[in-house]
Amino acid sequence: DWTSDMFIDNTVAELKAKIGSDKVVMGLSGGVDSSVAATLIHRAIGENLTCVFVDNGLLRKNEYEEVLESYKTLGLNVIGVDAKQRFYVALAGISDPETKRKAIGRVFIEVFDDEAHKIDGVKWLGQGTIYPDVIESVSVKGPSATIKSHHNVGGLPDFMKLSVVEPLNTLFKDEVREVGRALEIPETIIGRHPFPGPGLAIRILGDITEEKVKTLQEVDAIFIQGLKNHGLYDQVWQAGAILLPIQSVGVMGDERTYERVVALRAVGSVDGMTADWIHLPYEFLGKMSNEIINRVKGVNRVVYDISSKPPATIEWE
Ligand code: XMP
Repeated sequence: DWTSDMFIDNTVAELKAKIGSDKVVMGLSGGVDSSVAATLIHRAIGENLTCVFVDNGLLRKNEYEEVLESYKTLGLNVIGVDAKQRFYVALAGISDPETKRKAIGRVFIEVFDDEAHKIDGVKWLGQGTIYPDVIESVSVKGPSATIKSHHNVGGLPDFMKLSVVEPLNTLFKDEVREVGRALEIPETIIGRHPFPGPGLAIRILGDITEEKVKTLQEVDAIFIQGLKNHGLYDQVWQAGAILLPIQSVGVMGDERTYERVVALRAVGSVDGMTADWIHLPYEFLGKMSNEIINRVKGVNRVVYDISSKPPATIEWE
């Protein structure tokens, strides 16, 4: 029978034998998979693992600071890179979803490659690939793992000439979570909803500006905190907010407003391949709508997405 403790002991021993005294570099996303993979590799080789966590300016509100802090608490040797402006510049004026994904993938590789070059004599690239990624390495709309699936973007960056080490590539998500708990990784990381590599970029329909990112971060933070406060977060597989590329008329006091519309989305799923919209309580939705419209400047309307996958997808882009 499989137990997480046995898996950890075996994997750490295998990693030690395989990597020896070589150096490993690994990109962290803040998600469950890369965090668990990094912690396992760190158990095996300690300081010879260098982790890179990139702020692409498309993360949730305060996520960069909070996640970086948890990584440090875990004892990981992690380099945080603030690359927000590089991503915003690369994304300026782009509205097409796939073009956004490609631009983000390209800049990520540039930023990561720069960091990997600073590590003397690195031989391995650590990755948080899990078993479902191995079978289904490209999702319906495109790449689901940031590094792995962008091989075809121009010439191969140097870090891709590294040997790959993927300690989780035989596990399913629930097993990864079990291993993570056994490794005492905080529940804030283990219980986290999935979040796409391109981040908020694919939840801002149309072109991306820093101002739109800030607006969506505020809306998303209210919604996610609301789900947590009402005990709904763990009942949802994935949730978030979408900034629509339209304005609608509203009224505030005696004034007519003409402001943005946001959509809220919450789905249940097992693996993201199919998903059902969640019947969140009306009272909760009403509260969220009030809070968002009262607190977020420039938003005067909130709608709830009641589409399931298929035929809709979880993300709007
Ligand atoms: P869809 O929208 O295709 O999403 O129903 C299924 C799952 O995949 C995530 N997703 C992505 N993850 N890069 C990622 O790393 C992407 O380009 C991407 N597109 C969608 C989505 O958040 C959901 O969990």
